[in-house]
Amino acid sequence: MPTTGEPPTEVPERIPRHVAIVMDGNGRWAQRAGLPRHAGHQAGADAVRRTVEEAIRVGVRVLTLFAFSSENWRRPKAEVALLMDLFLRALKRELPLLRANGVRLRILGDRRAFSEKLSRRMAEAEAATAGNDRLLLQVAANYGGRWDISEAARKLAIAARAGDLDPAQIDESTFAAALSFPDCGDPDLFIRTGGERRLSNFLLWQSAYSELYFTDTLWPDFDAAAFGEALRDYAGRQRRFGRTAEQVDEVVGG
Ligand code: IPE
Ligand code: IPE
Ligand code: MG
Repeated sequence: MPTTGEPPTEVPERIPRHVAIVMDGNGRWAQRAGLPRHAGHQAGADAVRRTVEEAIRVGVRVLTLFAFSSENWRRPKAEVALLMDLFLRALKRELPLLRANGVRLRILGDRRAFSEKLSRRMAEAEAATAGNDRLLLQVAANYGGRWDISEAARKLAIAARAGDLDPAQIDESTFAAALSFPDCGDPDLFIRTGGERRLSNFLLWQSAYSELYFTDTLWPDFDAAAFGEALRDYAGRQRRFGRTAEQVDEVVGG
């Protein structure tokens, strides 16, 4: 369901199940247009809606978006306040559309820093969409990969001290199960818009074997065509997970 008049782009054969995106470049987009930064964040919210619709159309099952990092509190107070206000309004505005499209919303990150009103609205939106299963939309807000990992370590340590967990039994799967979203698989495709080639503390553990895709397109300009480019790039890659190319060909061919 494209929102523009463009014909829908062809869907590649191999679609990533889980796509994660660092939505970067709102500020520069606004600056280039001679607008204040907040106009970039507003345009970024429209790009979120488009991306969700396109993810549904092509058959992505999990979309994890980085909306606000644990480091973004360092921004000027006015920009942080504006972003919080934008979340609050977007949650209310988009809820009917999420429900109509069968989207389940989940917010990742440390919520203790948010206002009571925002936390409440997050919980309400999650509850209202909990029964949907067409797309799992995860929005990371006050999220950091190191926070996620250290929280998992803390939970495991508490369980060990309580005698509920034998420390000798802790392995990668126990650890992964203690992270903030253990149930939806690691991202297959990790996209960053806005031109920077860094992870900025997004999904550090979960992206161990994600295919990384960096584009100069600024987030507010990210549309079905730009998403399609990323998907085609992904479809052309061979994921080896440590094996040789020949071994992977055998499995695919056989
Ligand atoms: C991403 O865009 C949005 C958030 C981090 C909240 P930026 O605001 O970082 O945009 P640039 O990087 O300044 O262009
Ligand atoms: C990463 O963007 C965080 C989000 C997109 C929410 P930043 O713009 O905050 O990243 P850095 O600080 O330039 O690495
Ligand atoms: Mg940025």
